[in-house]
Amino acid sequence: MIKGIILAGGKGTRLLPLTKITNKHLLPIFNRVMIEYPLQTLLKAGIKEILIVSGREHAGDFVEYLGSGKDYGANFTYKVQDEAGGIAQALLLAEDFADGKKVMVILGDNIFEDNISRAVKNFRSGARIFLKKVSDPERFGVAVLEGKRVVKILEKPEKSPSPYAVTGLYQYDKNVFKTIKRLKPSARGELEITDVNNAYIKREAMKAEFIRGFWSDAGTFDSLARSVSWALKKSKK
Ligand code: G1P
Repeated sequence: MIKGIILAGGKGTRLLPLTKITNKHLLPIFNRVMIEYPLQTLLKAGIKEILIVSGREHAGDFVEYLGSGKDYGANFTYKVQDEAGGIAQALLLAEDFADGKKVMVILGDNIFEDNISRAVKNFRSGARIFLKKVSDPERFGVAVLEGKRVVKILEKPEKSPSPYAVTGLYQYDKNVFKTIKRLKPSARGELEITDVNNAYIKREAMKAEFIRGFWSDAGTFDSLARSVSWALKKSKK
């Protein structure tokens, strides 16, 4: 069984002033609340045990909006990240919840069109990342590829070595928590998910897949607008 984790912390500073009084992941993407998208990505893949990690300021709003999971035929657990210390730090809060099982981690502002059921079913051990060709890779973690093999990930490089962004969807085996505990904070003082992934690459335990359908984050005004127009178009199909 794979457990699901939605990481919905962070300050959302790139969307100020929209995020002054609410959390980024509770903002609308056309006719839905942002967090519904990553949640549906997990639910459609059959993942029913889901942990939502959010910052303390708006944790109550997530509980109020999502509830126990009953409305979704699922079971939700909540955890609070007291201070924004990076995606890997937020993920470490999921150690008890994961309870030795494999996990599918998704960032709360990532919108995927693809169905990830197959990835959930065929995951055995190690880690897996999901790549998407983009026109602005410098905004993301970027995969350095040799053929189809990922040899390194660079977090927001000044000049990108490839057009392949590392999307906010990750699969890990139980070793992920040990790996995070060994990390040192990055230059911006955070525990980086990219360092977790590079540790798996070093151990030759990382696989990569490509995302076929639409993908966007929604953490900047441009990407939020792109996500809204995609959702609008999709609703008319
Ligand atoms: C994070 C990760 C980055 C990844 C991106 C996907 O960046 O650090 O590697 O490509 O999510 O959305 P953030 O948007 O938190 O700056």
